[in-house]
Amino acid sequence: MKVTAIIPAAGSGSRAGSTPKQYMELLGKPVLEWTLAAVSASEAVDSIILVTPANDVDMMSGKYLKNKTFPKVASVVSGGAKRGDSVRNGVMQAASEFVLIHDAARPFLSPPLVKRVVESAMAHGCTTAALPAHDTVKARQGEFLGAAVDRSTLLLIQTPQVFKREALLKAYEIKKDEASDWTDETSLMQSAGFSVAWVVGETVNFKITTPDDFRLAQAIAHFGARET
Ligand code: C5P
Repeated sequence: MKVTAIIPAAGSGSRAGSTPKQYMELLGKPVLEWTLAAVSASEAVDSIILVTPANDVDMMSGKYLKNKTFPKVASVVSGGAKRGDSVRNGVMQAASEFVLIHDAARPFLSPPLVKRVVESAMAHGCTTAALPAHDTVKARQGEFLGAAVDRSTLLLIQTPQVFKREALLKAYEIKKDEASDWTDETSLMQSAGFSVAWVVGETVNFKITTPDDFRLAQAIAHFGARET
């Protein structure tokens, strides 16, 4: 069963600083290339659709199409105003039975995690990587704490997320009259009535969002994401 990976890399990076975070360099290599290398290394992924800012499509096509280091990159498409729009632009170019969506800004995922998510999606139709919450979790009431939330009931959602493409297309159809405000595609799928399974993600598979995240990413790039 074929799997196409969609890599949304069309963000403006306003929270991490001036340069979009997917273009910032870790050990001299853009974050995006760390992500492309990890996704490409997975035998579960057959091809990759890269979604970039509209202005960068030509430059990124020149750089990554027919690139010997990333031979799975099959097309480069223009992103949209919101992450959900960018992902949908990529999904519309895919023709495989399953699509895997993974944020360009999460460079340290491992091929075994990709395999786990793909295998679960083949059994359940839709699966995401997610981490159980380990910290104490409370509601926020201005300057003060609100009630505690039972952390054993909570999950922190990551990507990769893998969906049967037909189901995702159906969800887009069901939600076509609503703004694409969902922050990930599991939210879209659930609001369209689909069940989504989860497998345990990886702590190092965090999303680079703030300057502090980027410093952490530099340290991980330097020391290695995991024991090999
Ligand atoms: O903004 P956020 O941190 O949620 O971005 C997650 C991923 O989605 C990043 O890899 C970013 O480049 C991408 N993105 C996108 N199109 C947008 C906004 C974000 O492809 N309009």
